[in-house]
Amino acid sequence: MTVGLRATGLMKITRSLRRRLNERNVSDELLGDIEEKARRIPLHIDTNMLKIGFLGGGKMAQALAKGFVKAGLSKGEMILASCLPSDEGSIEAFREIESKTVHTNDAVATHGDVLILSVKPQVVPKILPELKDPEKLVLSIAMGISIETLEKGLPSGTPVIRVMPNTPALVGCGATVFSRGTHVTDEEAEITKRLFSAVGTCQEVDEHLIDPVTALAGSGPAYVYMFIEAMADGAVKMGMPRPLAYKLASQTVLGAGMMVRETGSHPGQLKDDVASPAGSTISAIHELEKNGIRSAVIDAIEAATLRCREFSTKKSY
Ligand SMILES: NC(=O)c1ccc[n+]([C@@H]2O[C@H](COP(=O)([O-])OP(=O)(O)OC[C@H]3O[C@@H](n4cnc5c(N)ncnc54)[C@H](OP(=O)(O)O)[C@@H]3O)[C@@H](O)[C@H]2O)c1
Repeated sequence: MTVGLRATGLMKITRSLRRRLNERNVSDELLGDIEEKARRIPLHIDTNMLKIGFLGGGKMAQALAKGFVKAGLSKGEMILASCLPSDEGSIEAFREIESKTVHTNDAVATHGDVLILSVKPQVVPKILPELKDPEKLVLSIAMGISIETLEKGLPSGTPVIRVMPNTPALVGCGATVFSRGTHVTDEEAEITKRLFSAVGTCQEVDEHLIDPVTALAGSGPAYVYMFIEAMADGAVKMGMPRPLAYKLASQTVLGAGMMVRETGSHPGQLKDDVASPAGSTISAIHELEKNGIRSAVIDAIEAATLRCREFSTKKSY
């Protein structure tokens, strides 16, 4: 048996075992003990063997599917996505990685071992009734849809994980967090972590952090693109050709991010290191401060978090 199938089999064995033992009225204590032993079985996941289904084949689904394939984690033919017939661009994007697309969600719901709910948040309530098999691992990337809402809309016992990725997953530089629902085993959390670690960083967090994470990392690339564009505009104003300006601005953002991550130094310290007395950098920093750069960014992340919370508490969309 292939290791991938073994990993998927393990989820099912643990779940069906739990159900059978429940039927026999085995005590919670003994059940917990058996599950703990099952968890300790070493897990060797060849995620190449996982069948992945995307419910909604838009931008984020395409970024993840391409990222999983590029990272060698899944084969194109193991991935199935649902796309509306009119959405020719998405259908073509999946065809490019040799993945099939279908026009209905129920075909995806039965195909995947792992189902990724990747429609817009307002469409999620329409899709949940189509997911009828409580054995499938459901990963939702929908902004602002809580685990409680997802669990209420799915068959009892369905393992649900709320995931918040970002689009740089497409180039293997994503920043993903996830929170597990009530019925998720350690193996299922591990599969999620390995999938998203293949396209960047991935860590588990408490669900109350998902909204600020969405505001920081989910939406964050948009803020950074604006910053890159503005830096390049400044350089163009001072006479630099635009292609060179974009190249240098993007590489500078990449390099500064790597410096913060790799050195572990405080960003303020790294900023001080660049700003020599009476130099050009401190003159530029003064201009940025006069224009309220820090407050603008803090306000932006606060606004995005509050917008996510509005979604989370909405009863209908
Ligand atoms: N983009 C990001 O950076 C990002 C980051 C983190 C999380 N997310 C989350 O990821 C999810 C998808 O976002 P996105 O940016 O990829 O949006 P998107 O490009 O609009 O993708 C959603 C896709 O779902 C399709 N769709 C609509 N109704 C459907 C239905 N009933 N059945 C199946 N598919 C249907 C849409 O088709 P049509 O366009 O033809 O309607 C579209 O292709 C959202 O919930 C978002 O909150 C996005």
